Amino acid sequence: MNHTGAHKLNHCMAEALLAKYLGKKKLIAETGAGQHGVALATAAAYFGLECEIHMGEVDIAKEHPNVVRMQILGAKVVPATHGLKTLKEAVDSAFEAYLKDTDSQLFAIGSVVGPHPFPKMVRDFQSVVGIEAKEQFLEMTGKLPDMVSACVGGGSNAMGIFSAFIEDAVKLYAVEPAGKGINLGEHSASLTYGSEGIMHGFNSIMLKDKDGNPAPVHSIGSGIDYPSVGPEHAYLNSIGRTRIGLCNDEEAVDAFYKLSQHEGIIPALESAHAVAFAMKYAKENPKEAILVNLSGRGDKDIDYIVENYPIPLKDI
Ligand SMILES: Cc1ncc(COP(=O)(O)O)c(C=O)c1O
Repeated sequence: MNHTGAHKLNHCMAEALLAKYLGKKKLIAETGAGQHGVALATAAAYFGLECEIHMGEVDIAKEHPNVVRMQILGAKVVPATHGLKTLKEAVDSAFEAYLKDTDSQLFAIGSVVGPHPFPKMVRDFQSVVGIEAKEQFLEMTGKLPDMVSACVGGGSNAMGIFSAFIEDAVKLYAVEPAGKGINLGEHSASLTYGSEGIMHGFNSIMLKDKDGNPAPVHSIGSGIDYPSVGPEHAYLNSIGRTRIGLCNDEEAVDAFYKLSQHEGIIPALESAHAVAFAMKYAKENPKEAILVNLSGRGDKDIDYIVENYPIPLKDI
């Protein structure tokens, strides 16, 4: 329910403050679903900075309301027209534009990815999610959750909430998009199917094609169709501190409608992955207390959803 519709505003306000402090004139970034772009355009408007957002042509068509929002907020939206024309290509395009002028621009990356110190900065800016969720959960239930479920694209909402529970005996589930199948190109479950590699200036686990380049990926959630995850996710998973949950497109759509019809919250399709996994988990672990990170609102997704998936009858 955050202003601008997702957790992204948390780190964007901080990145804009940093840009002011460093004397930069312009914020530049990529966006997938448009949530990071809208949040950054908002922060730029608030702090009096220019803003340029790179977005894949496919996502521009799918997430039209967010494109208009960015433009209303005064940002320039630059289409990424190569490759699959989605999130990875938007990152390529934004990095390229940033490298042309690193003096007056600040690259405000949209997740816990990229070279150091971006993953750490974004995690720390997002840690407010975990601090507040922990406090509220304790207040409401008198104990810690048994399990936390968060969707993972690059991994910022998940790192934000996980960071508060790392030292606690709480199971942390990073929910990956299983898309529409297990073949390369049909999903973006990087931790599940990926291997070590380097992309966009960081070393992590990633999905690669036969030549070792970032593989094509798919998810119904435009903000989570990314062929890698932040390096800290790869590390936490490798030492067994976090676990992987999977959710496919159909399950995400089902959770999207269920949360809307039973709780009155229309979730972002990305966040619907965390909800869907929590519903599956709850069936198998009915006694456990689950904390779901609802990273964003689904306003941006409603046109796409109703065009492609019929609204189900409410099953009360
Ligand atoms: C609502 C929402 N949740 C999750 C994500 C995925 O990003 P991250 O994995 O960095 O939280 C996005 C990205 O656009 C988003 O808009």
